[in-house]
Formats: sequence, structure tokens, C-alpha cells
Amino acid sequence: MWSERDPRVPPHRRIDADGHPTVADFEEAIRANKPSSVGLLAVERKAGGDAIGYCGLVDGRHGEQEPELAFEFLRRFWGQGYATEASWAVLDWARSSGYKRLWASVWDWNTASRRVLAKVGFTETDREEAIYGNNLVTTVRL
Ligand SMILES: CC(C)(COP(=O)(O)OP(=O)(O)OC[C@H]1O[C@@H](n2cnc3c(N)ncnc32)[C@H](O)[C@@H]1OP(=O)(O)O)[C@@H](O)C(=O)NCCC(=O)NCCS
Repeated sequence: MWSERDPRVPPHRRIDADGHPTVADFEEAIRANKPSSVGLLAVERKAGGDAIGYCGLVDGRHGEQEPELAFEFLRRFWGQGYATEASWAVLDWARSSGYKRLWASVWDWNTASRRVLAKVGFTETDREEAIYGNNLVTTVRL
């Protein structure tokens, strides 16, 4: 996914000229990660068990009590409803963990992501200008 990212995504989230982050960098980060009620989960297809992306919760600007939804899928799997299905599952997980509200921020140009967020009930609460473009702040009550 890192090698497929849209050029409008900020440079620190793309592979740099030295080839970082590498698979080994990711492995180290995952091994150092302690289990918690937030985190990014690999999304596997039920039939083949192949990993096609991730979806989960990250600590955001609203603190530990109201984390942010995040998702990303390999391009060849876009447009088949996977992000929506995975988001519903993560919303259920968040509800069962006791969270009352989630947030998500999305670049205004990211039509597919905005549509996924809308489909699972997120509404826009704010717009902010950031270094890399306009960011929409959205939220959902669980
Ligand atoms: C955003 C992303 C996760 C969506 O994944 P996905 O599995 O294709 O999403 P879904 O199939 O569940 O839903 C996509 C929706 O967006 C719509 N859509 C996609 N591209 C669109 C476009 N250019 N214009 C209008 N609608 C569009 C689809 O039609 C679908 O809506 P529908 O069900 O009403 O038809 C995927 O594009 C991705 O990984 N992008 C790169 C990472 C990223 O942007 N992550 C989010 C950061 S906030």
C-alpha cells in the first residue's frame, strides 16, 4: 500500500528515497506495539484468507476516549465494498469496547473515503486548512 499511495498523500506517509519504511521497519514497529482497545487490524477475505488492507482505530486529537477510524486497501480491491464492511465491523468493536463516539479526518479530495465515512454514519463537523490540503473533520455517535 505504501508503494501505491496517491502523490497527494503527505511525504512522511510515503516510501522515502532511501526505501524507508521497509518491511523490517514495519515488523519492528508491530512487535513493539502493546495490545490495546485501539489499533489497526489486517482485513482478510473470508474465502481466501488473503490480506487486502487494514481498518481500525488510532489515537487522535480527541484523546483516548474518542479514537479515530482509519482504513486503507490495496488498489486492486477498491470499489467492492470492503472498506464499508470493515468499517461496520470496527464500529461494532468500538461500541463493544465502550466508546461512545469516534472521529475520522479525511482530505477533501478523497471522494471514496468520504463516501465510506458517510455510508457508516459519519457527518462533517469542521473543515481545517492543513499543510497538505483541506482536511474534513467527521464524527459518529455509537
Ligand atoms: C478509501 C478506500 C479505503 C475505499 O475503499 P473501498 O473498499 O473501495 O470502499 P467501498 O467500496 O466500501 O466504498 C467506496 C464508495 O466510494 C464511491 N467512490 C469511489 N470513488 C469515487 C469517486 N471518484 N467519486 C464518487 N464516488 C466514489 C464508491 O462508488 C462507493 O460508494 P457506493 O457504495 O455508494 O457506490 C480506498 O479507496 C483506499 O484504500 N484509498 C487509499 C487510502 C485512503 O484514502 N484511506 C482513507 C484515508 S482518510
